[in-house]
Amino acid sequence: MPSNRTRLPSGIAVRTTLVIATSFLCGLALASALFLWHAIHSIDHEPLLFKPLRAADAAAHSALSGDREKAALPQEASGHRSLLSGLRVLVTIASYDFMQLAHLEEVLDGFQDLCYAGSHVDVVIYTTVVYPVALIDMLNDRMRCNDPSPTSGMTVTLILKPASVRLHLVDFHRTLFYDRIDLYDVFVYTEDDIRISPKTIAAYLHETHRVSSLVGPTHASDYNVGIVRYEYNFPENVVITDKTRHATENVTRVYWEHLGKPIFEKAVDKVEHQELSKYYVSMHLHHQGMYMATPDLLRAWKDRPGCKFDEVRNRPGSGSQPSEGTQRVWMSSQMLFGKRHCGVTQLLPVDNFGQLTVLHLPNKNYRRVGKQGRIGGSDNSPKNEFSDGTEVFEPSHPDLLRALELHIEMKRQFPHLKSTNVAGEDGRLRYVGIRMVDTDLNVGSFAKDHRQVAEKRLEAYRAYVGRGGYMIDSDMDIDIDAWRITS
Ligand SMILES: *[C@@H]1O[C@H](CO)[C@@H](O)[C@H](O)[C@H]1NC(C)=O
Repeated sequence: MPSNRTRLPSGIAVRTTLVIATSFLCGLALASALFLWHAIHSIDHEPLLFKPLRAADAAAHSALSGDREKAALPQEASGHRSLLSGLRVLVTIASYDFMQLAHLEEVLDGFQDLCYAGSHVDVVIYTTVVYPVALIDMLNDRMRCNDPSPTSGMTVTLILKPASVRLHLVDFHRTLFYDRIDLYDVFVYTEDDIRISPKTIAAYLHETHRVSSLVGPTHASDYNVGIVRYEYNFPENVVITDKTRHATENVTRVYWEHLGKPIFEKAVDKVEHQELSKYYVSMHLHHQGMYMATPDLLRAWKDRPGCKFDEVRNRPGSGSQPSEGTQRVWMSSQMLFGKRHCGVTQLLPVDNFGQLTVLHLPNKNYRRVGKQGRIGGSDNSPKNEFSDGTEVFEPSHPDLLRALELHIEMKRQFPHLKSTNVAGEDGRLRYVGIRMVDTDLNVGSFAKDHRQVAEKRLEAYRAYVGRGGYMIDSDMDIDIDAWRITS
């Protein structure tokens, strides 16, 4: 099954491995636990096993061990409150069509987790395809944030753009950020295949506070805490199946975009600022595919000489010969970090490095490394497999229960649970599910075949909202195999 190639091991595989490992290592585990207990015991005479390690603990520990400089590290401005509680976050995602829906679903789950961590999250997805009601209904159930906190919440809005915008789909978020700059504490721009979790946002805030205390408020906007994307380096030639599970024994996270040895010269740079240089590094190649920012930083970058971060514009270069990568790279990274543009310095914390790394869900780009015409490759390198488009995919077994299939069947079986996407306000009920907006009547500019499907879906969506967000038979009669093909 070639489609399994790039997949991470399933939960079942992981659990099986754990069971084997547990029985195999039972005796060893006790021995190492004792060893660990002794090791910790000998440091401060208090067994810390199972006690969560927090920044405050680490600082206190440094104080005990006489490392005054580290103990004096600035703590979060929020004191004892959770960094995420009551935080207002605007997330924008460029998601062209349904090609990466599998990844987008994971991305949305990450932001759903942020709501349950106490934040208010508004997610805006820019797309060129109209979502069918059945998919929206399934996502409504999945994305509903039932957290009781008055400050947490989640909204999802799909903004339709004509397919002709192509790579410029990545541009629209910027204007939205500046239009709504007073309404949020954190802004996130990302593509639809990068998994961001509450941890990512919290770590970003924690480090941003630290940077600001280290350089002072006037210079804080010379820097932005960055992100490094990783993948897992599954073997190049083996499909991971039940029979080849052992092929994952050496698999590890790889920062596939950051090549070159010695590492501190070719892949990672030291930073110049004296205080920052003690805690932070920059990646030599600063492409991130996403970025985060606070309103203060966005405001400062607007006025920063040579930056104009609020101004959407084309990547540098003439005609079809861009000199600095694609529009995606430009909007997500190069405009901000490029020396000839905003010239903001990307910072990654040495001591919390892994917290600012995110999974690139397709888990495929590491395979490019060293291939013909790709990063680290030469003319004599092997070609990337399937590079000529002649591939034939073998579908997975039709008996596999698909999420959308089960969703529709449950709704058929439980018709009394139908009006769950409404909320009361002044005695009036209001639809509160995923919004799909076609503000510029973009659907009118779709190609003819596509347009008919799109208009029909928009009409069904409006009816769904009008009745309070539950499906009727015509919404459930969806071709489970072919609904993504829209043209
Ligand atoms: C894992 O690495 C070891 C050491 O290089 C090697 O002997 C082994 O064959 C590797 N396993 C797989 C599945 O690649």
